[in-house]
Amino acid sequence: MSFENIKFEENDGIAYITIDRPTKLNALNKATIQELHEAFEAAQEDGDIKVIILTGIGEKAFVAGADISEFSDFSKEEGKQLAAQGQEKLFDFVANFPKPVIAAVNGFALGGGLELAMAAHFRIASDNAKMGLPEVSLGVIPGYGGTQRLPQLVGKGRAMEMIMTAGMIDARQALEYNLVNHVTTQEELIPFAEKTAGKIMKNSMVAISGAIKAINANFEAGRNGFEVEIEEFGRSFGTEDFKEGTSAFLHKRKANFPGK
Ligand code: COA
Repeated sequence: MSFENIKFEENDGIAYITIDRPTKLNALNKATIQELHEAFEAAQEDGDIKVIILTGIGEKAFVAGADISEFSDFSKEEGKQLAAQGQEKLFDFVANFPKPVIAAVNGFALGGGLELAMAAHFRIASDNAKMGLPEVSLGVIPGYGGTQRLPQLVGKGRAMEMIMTAGMIDARQALEYNLVNHVTTQEELIPFAEKTAGKIMKNSMVAISGAIKAINANFEAGRNGFEVEIEEFGRSFGTEDFKEGTSAFLHKRKANFPGK
């Protein structure tokens, strides 16, 4: 597939989705959000793709935010639409994606960029990364899930402070805040993400999809995550992966999951 604002590559079960607008520090304009949606849809349909690594081109930015030039003259209604459409097309789509999505945060992850990294299932950052939600410095609030996902990850008080001060934290502090799971050197970022993807891919991808649903249910208002867990647990018993996984264990051999 070819895109203008992103790169979409595939190798050994991994889809690499890379935001590619270096002159704008990979800021998310409407076209980029649409292309990301299409790339994720393609990754969902492609049976060979097991894990997605989401990153930004270059050494400076993951994503420096939503493209400010696109919304500076928006009305209230247009602002609301921007957030609603973006959340549906990209941020919620990624958060609920049935295959693991790892954000490899390679530089600035600001505003919509940090919101995109937070929508991913987990984050690895290089040591030059800087993260923040600077929206209130522009007179708006985070609109792509930031007011919800940041407190889920770092706690309410830290989220309040980060959003109110509009400040940035570095990779070490992000690690201390549980905003990222690991910090690597810049060179090691993608190899580390690939190594992690490799560990994931040894397991049942069907079971992993069920686990994503159950974990996410914990953060959805009005849903009982324990009930979703029971449903998904039960569903696992009807899969070929379950038969293979248990049989491999009992026969003391390595499982070779069919992914069904
Ligand atoms: N939207 C649109 N354009 C952006 C952008 C954004 N969020 N972030 C960066 N850019 C553009 C700049 O306008 C500049 O474009 P130009 O060369 O055509 O003028 C280019 O990317 C390089 O950015 P620049 O500001 O010159 O780089 P810097 O190294 O001096 O500063 C940042 C880097 C990240 C600190 C700075 O770009 C910034 O503060 N960006 C906005 C962050 C933000 O508020 N994001 C939240 C949006 S809701």
